Amino acid sequence: MINIAILGFGTIGSGVAEVVEKNQEEIKKVLGENLHVKYILDIRDLPGVVKDIDTIINDPDIKVICETMGGKEPAYTYTHLALERGISVCTSNKELVDAHGVELSAIAREHNCSYLFEASVGGGIPLLRTIREACGHEKISKIAGILNGTCNYILTNMKAGKEFDAALKEAQENGYAERNPAADIEGHDTARKIAILASLVSGKKISYEQVDCEGITNVTAEDFAEAEAKGMSIKLLGVYDAENNSVLVAPHLVPKESALYNVNGVFNGVMIHGNMVDDLMFYGRGAGKCPTASAVVSDVIECVKNIGRNINNDFADLEPANVNKAPEKPLGQKFRTL
Ligand SMILES: NC(=O)c1ccc[n+]([C@@H]2O[C@H](COP(=O)([O-])OP(=O)(O)OC[C@H]3O[C@@H](n4cnc5c(N)ncnc54)[C@H](OP(=O)(O)O)[C@@H]3O)[C@@H](O)[C@H]2O)c1
Repeated sequence: MINIAILGFGTIGSGVAEVVEKNQEEIKKVLGENLHVKYILDIRDLPGVVKDIDTIINDPDIKVICETMGGKEPAYTYTHLALERGISVCTSNKELVDAHGVELSAIAREHNCSYLFEASVGGGIPLLRTIREACGHEKISKIAGILNGTCNYILTNMKAGKEFDAALKEAQENGYAERNPAADIEGHDTARKIAILASLVSGKKISYEQVDCEGITNVTAEDFAEAEAKGMSIKLLGVYDAENNSVLVAPHLVPKESALYNVNGVFNGVMIHGNMVDDLMFYGRGAGKCPTASAVVSDVIECVKNIGRNINNDFADLEPANVNKAPEKPLGQKFRTL
């Protein structure tokens, strides 16, 4: 039996426990052993929950930790402490990966353990490992992705005739948008995710501050009517363009012929263009308890298969990138076209 710990028992952390419990048989099949959640650390007074990270990292039984607290601190300190002890960390925390992912990956390598973050981009979509392992030999020239389910839900409802405020309110009522939705609707969440993807494929660390970022607050129902008349829809895309060396988040006109046109509601879709494989399309739930937790558990399984060894996540050696400004919108146009 392999013992793990969960830091932060919120939406994703409790999802990790659920995936481990409900899919024990499948996990045993791939691992040859059961996974057991030995510790849960949370700030809240929940039964059986520990409050002290030392209890977890001083227990030699713990081989892997899931960091699903979010935010920079104490997630950074706890991750640092665990990796220094040779305990692998799997996270859904894109903010921490963006801010400290390179440093934490180097610490993991130094201590023969791993820092993996599949769940930080595209929720349940197996994206990062696929890019790293199945597409490592490709020259990837472009990534264009719908990476934020909240924005896509709002825009899908606007396509059906709602104005922005009404669509946002509905997203909040259905639990798809936070009470403070700024990180989603201003594009910052998408920027963090496209920055992680762009870093992986460019081999340089692109931080979220380097992304040209425009959210969806200026999109109107009238824009949708005009787009529809041209056979297009409007989607918030994160775009990495290798040729121009730029990373952009902005609402785009997406033609009907594009596979991204039909990515609706809370779903995410990511298109990647490789020089040999041509266009690839990834589709799935980019957020939510069990889909995101499933991605965390997939990382846990990789870490357990590699106990005592570092899994190269292609992040440890990244030097800071210089990126160019994204091309301007065409003159007189409100949106770029995909
Ligand atoms: N939700 C999604 O669909 C989704 C998808 C992809 C990635 N993510 C990422 O996954 C991470 C977790 O998201 P979430 O939605 O699960 O958040 P959440 O529901 O707020 O869960 C975080 C948990 O960690 C606890 N916590 C916060 N600070 C702590 C501390 N100092 N010590 C111990 N526990 C602490 C929180 O307790 P309190 O509630 O008392 O603060 C809460 O139980 C974030 O980085 C998020 O960006 C989320």
